[in-house]
Amino acid sequence: MNSTIAQLKNRFAQALTAAFGAAYGATDPILVPASNPKFGDYQANVSLSLAKPLGKAPRAIAEEIVQQLDVADLCETPTVAGPGFINLTLKTSYLESQIKAIQSDPRLGVAPIAHPQRVIVDYPSPNIAKEMHVGHLRPAIIGDCIARILEFIGHDVLRISHIGDWGTPFGMLIAYLRAAYPEALTANESLDLGDLSTFYRQAKQRFDANEGFREAARLSVVQLQAGDEETLRAWKIVCELSSRSYRVIYDLMGIAHVLERGESFYNPLLESVVEDLKATGLLVEDNGAQCVFLEGFTNKEGKPLPLIVQKSDGGYNYATTDLAAIRYRVKEDKVQRVIYPVGMEQTNHFAQIFQVGRRAGWITEAVEFIHAPFGLVLGEDNKKLKTRSGEAVRLQDLLDEAIAHARTDLEARLKEEERQETADFIAHASQVTGISAIKYADLSQNRTSNYIFSYDKMLSLQGNTAPYMLYAYVRVQGISRKGQIDFEQLGANAAIVLKDESELTLAKHLLQLDEILAQIDQDLLPNRLCQYLFELSQKFNRFYEQCPILDADEPLRTSRLILADLTARSLKLGLSLLGIPVLERM
Ligand code: ARG
Repeated sequence: MNSTIAQLKNRFAQALTAAFGAAYGATDPILVPASNPKFGDYQANVSLSLAKPLGKAPRAIAEEIVQQLDVADLCETPTVAGPGFINLTLKTSYLESQIKAIQSDPRLGVAPIAHPQRVIVDYPSPNIAKEMHVGHLRPAIIGDCIARILEFIGHDVLRISHIGDWGTPFGMLIAYLRAAYPEALTANESLDLGDLSTFYRQAKQRFDANEGFREAARLSVVQLQAGDEETLRAWKIVCELSSRSYRVIYDLMGIAHVLERGESFYNPLLESVVEDLKATGLLVEDNGAQCVFLEGFTNKEGKPLPLIVQKSDGGYNYATTDLAAIRYRVKEDKVQRVIYPVGMEQTNHFAQIFQVGRRAGWITEAVEFIHAPFGLVLGEDNKKLKTRSGEAVRLQDLLDEAIAHARTDLEARLKEEERQETADFIAHASQVTGISAIKYADLSQNRTSNYIFSYDKMLSLQGNTAPYMLYAYVRVQGISRKGQIDFEQLGANAAIVLKDESELTLAKHLLQLDEILAQIDQDLLPNRLCQYLFELSQKFNRFYEQCPILDADEPLRTSRLILADLTARSLKLGLSLLGIPVLERM
């Protein structure tokens, strides 16, 4: 199935060629959804952009295009308005046939893209030796969502976690492991080291209190970097401990499995990265450090800023590792696009490493490296979300609390409705609602803005929230329960009849999912999908108020049931792309 936009674009290409010659065939018709349904469904603004090159008035150009435009099977007769907009209104018969076509399509009209890319999504990337906190929320949620959407559209997606699993913080943990659990290093089976946070806290206590221990920690770093075997074993044990504890949280959050390719993975490649940079003539020695002087970045005195790739003591840093990753991803993974959903505060870091990657010749025209930045999670006081004692909120606590809030809400509702549910049902529904609320609150904001974290708002049944969306799905399902209708058995041959204005509006919206996903493929803004789903449920509600469904006569009854089913399926699919499962009851 070809999307409406794609078909219209084709027709415009033909009309432009016919009217002005082949040179104009590829001109972007600038098709946008009409600003007001009164003007139709789409508006083409190409005439305005052609006024200059053609040396004609836009209105005259619009008339010439319309003369040549053959869209009779899709639209009513196009009209020219204002300074030269071309207004298009989709034909009811066309909409009916499109709805019929997606009824039997599990992808609901979203065709796999014509040119799939190999894409890496770099997430989620905590620094391993520490506990996960609220700062790790957005990369996980946004990264997971972007990966799900791109994969669904048809890209070959690799989820890679660039975890901070190397370097100085490990000295302390390795030294602590050696001191407190010497048997861990010789035991055949893995030892129970308790949870990561206790382990970390105890190590830190000893580190702060004991000079001898600090020395042992420093020594461990040196041994780790020198590749000492016993130290490496200790390091691995610590990595596995944190990996396991992260997995628990990701599982609770429903974050898909990722390939862990932490900073340590690139360690053996760092020397050759520096050599490569030297060979291309980019490397300059500055105060004993090896640097690349950046274009367009200056220090306070207005001098070019150096990016250090090897410190004067010979050590490498975060940037060197990321450069190695860039080179590896292009040369070994052979990707066409790499997306980094990482906080806004690393904007300079990514601009700098991408620049060096380009100048070194690793990033060519054929690959795109994109930093997809996001804003902060704020507390109700408009400052970075913190605990009362001023620490970063632990991710586990945040999730637990959302689930607890969801449970309180659910239990209150059950009481009010005098409903009995099993303990299993309540536990499951609270977990899905709580976690979904956090995800949806995050994804429904423009990624680049900060947002205020509020359990009350995100769990509200009103507004653009997860509970509202989950409820919308449940309500549509309720129709099939009430009428004892098996949506899957709905007449494959039944006709679609769109009569009421609200039916037409809903049908048009149902047919736009592919356009929304195509946009997200470009700008990586998942809030577009949230907005789409929110509007879908509103348009459904309107249809539900306006049109009897179960009491309607045939063929309207079946046609309307099909619209309801398509709404439910779109909600389910869309939510799944946000990483949110639906509930059959709530
Ligand atoms: N571990 C880093 C941090 O916590 C994030 C890594 C992001 N990915 C990357 N390739 N640099 O800040």
